[in-house]
Amino acid sequence: MYRIAVTSEKGGVGKSTLAFNLAGALSDRGKVVLVDEDTRIQSCLTWAGLASVPFRVLSPEQTRQGVQQADFLLVDSEGRPSRDDLAEMVGSFDRVLIPCGVSRLEIGSTLALWRALKDPGGVVRVVITKAPPVGRVGHDARDALRAAGVPCLDAVVRRYAAHERAAEVGGLVRDVRDDRAGEAWADVQAVAAEVVK
Ligand SMILES: Nc1ncnc2c1ncn2[C@@H]1O[C@H](COP(=O)(O)OP(=O)(O)O)[C@@H](O)[C@H]1O
Ligand SMILES: [Mg+2]
Repeated sequence: MYRIAVTSEKGGVGKSTLAFNLAGALSDRGKVVLVDEDTRIQSCLTWAGLASVPFRVLSPEQTRQGVQQADFLLVDSEGRPSRDDLAEMVGSFDRVLIPCGVSRLEIGSTLALWRALKDPGGVVRVVITKAPPVGRVGHDARDALRAAGVPCLDAVVRRYAAHERAAEVGGLVRDVRDDRAGEAWADVQAVAAEVVK
């Protein structure tokens, strides 16, 4: 079982959106279980309750009985994990994805977080999210972080209304009726391809 955590120190960066859709994209490659550890907001549990998705979403209590026979275990972490919690995740997951927006402040705080974390196993990857679909802002943010030594995925998740629509109606962004749903889904698939590489 390949264990992936999606986490960040900040809320609202697109953690749940990425975890949920990534669970959908990885379902093409194996059996996926997604654990919604954000017990306050429960985004993933809510979205899965609104539409049909090709994976199971469990609460932390449900996983206490164990997660059987999944190929991928994804965790949407609690809203604001402490640095100790983050360090523990880095020590216990195969991949830790940290979404980061494109603003100077977000890039700065991600850089500070990376410098505070120890990652001897090389499991951490920052993934740029909510990048403007037009222009190079997302790629520039990624390249700036890389230049500072932060490991980043090549894939950049662009900002599309289709993601917000999916958050309203539940389900995966690929199933939303929106002209740009295909582009939004392509970004998620690119993340999935890199995560399993
Ligand atoms: N790629 C994206 N494009 C557009 N909106 C997004 C994207 N990712 C997330 N959002 C929106 O940003 C808000 C916060 O996203 P969410 O996934 O709940 O963040 P977190 O789990 O980090 O708090 C939601 O309204 C969501 O629809
Ligand atoms: Mg969330």
